[in-house]
Amino acid sequence: MPQHNTHDSSSFTILVLPGDGIGPEVCTPAASILGQVAAHFNISLQFKQGLIGGAAIEATGNPLPAATLTLAAEADAILLGAVGGPQWDRRPPAERPETALLQLRRQFNFFANLRPIVLQSSLAATSAIKENIIAGTDILLVRELVGGLYFGEPRGRKILANGVEEAWNTLRYDSQQIEQVVHRACVCASTRRGLLCLVDKANVLETSQLWREVSEQVVLRYNKDHAKKKVRLSAMYVDNAAMQLIANPKQFDVIVTENMFGDILADLGAQLVGSLGMLPSASQGQGPKGLYEPVHGSAPDLAGQDVANPCAAILCGAMMLRYSLGCPQAAAAVEQAVVAALDAGLRTVDLGGQGKQASGCTAAGRQIEAHLRTILSSSLR
Ligand code: IPM
Ligand code: MG
Repeated sequence: MPQHNTHDSSSFTILVLPGDGIGPEVCTPAASILGQVAAHFNISLQFKQGLIGGAAIEATGNPLPAATLTLAAEADAILLGAVGGPQWDRRPPAERPETALLQLRRQFNFFANLRPIVLQSSLAATSAIKENIIAGTDILLVRELVGGLYFGEPRGRKILANGVEEAWNTLRYDSQQIEQVVHRACVCASTRRGLLCLVDKANVLETSQLWREVSEQVVLRYNKDHAKKKVRLSAMYVDNAAMQLIANPKQFDVIVTENMFGDILADLGAQLVGSLGMLPSASQGQGPKGLYEPVHGSAPDLAGQDVANPCAAILCGAMMLRYSLGCPQAAAAVEQAVVAALDAGLRTVDLGGQGKQASGCTAAGRQIEAHLRTILSSSLR
């Protein structure tokens, strides 16, 4: 993990970028819970807010205004809600809300995106998969975030002489890009079961063949330097991995994969453990600064109704406390509060909550806060 900055280790600036759709709704309880837990652990947080995505387009004409980039550069950590919505879908790629998120990831070289896929036992019945298969699922998906098809050049579209239109993207990786993310995945694996599965398409793609070769070297070197906890590397084709995740998710510990495969498998993993509304993510570079975003999108169909599930955003706060703010106890308290609220029956609509029994976003945030207060007052200090 990136080492924590020690200059003033108890005072941090957090930039909140609520963005679009349900983004602002889920960021509100997440920031409030972060503030509360931080105060308990004597961490001083200064919250700032910025514009990104469609919200920024409407206000400034630019999905990623310079002011946001400045705020992001000054912040110790960034909490991002979501970007995108149907009203901006017809804009050219460079002017879409999603481009702002991609630029932000790229600007700070957040090359490793950690997406924990963990089944909360009280949600086993919410999954589409049989309980005996998913019980105990605890996977960390490490997605490469600043390369591959999302960023490869050349890319574009053109109308050919015969009037037919063509479009192209480039899947390109160099060995350094692969090395840094696979090394990060090794670090993660060595604090867990030590199993690292590379997901690729090495039977077809040159990029995947390079991923295999480089991964083998990185793991060899990692194991030489860290004799205590060895990492065991395996490799799996992505089509098979999609099937194996559903057939036998417990076989996986840490998965490392390229950008596009990781995007797809994360949503599959979300359904495995109940709902996309449960998955947080941490995007990391070389230092402690991180970008924390729920895996879910802006969910325009749910926006503005106070029905979204804030768990993913709140769990992003926990990941921020652990990785950027260096306070694992505070992170654990937030995670325990979410688990306790779910155990006590908290169900937003995406978790099967129905009618009056379903919690809204604000109410869910309050329930989790109440559990957090109990947890903080009882033990962790
Ligand atoms: C994600 C999202 C983004 C991605 C979109 C919004 C650009 O789907 O974080 O998984 O594809 O990376
Ligand atoms: Mg996605």
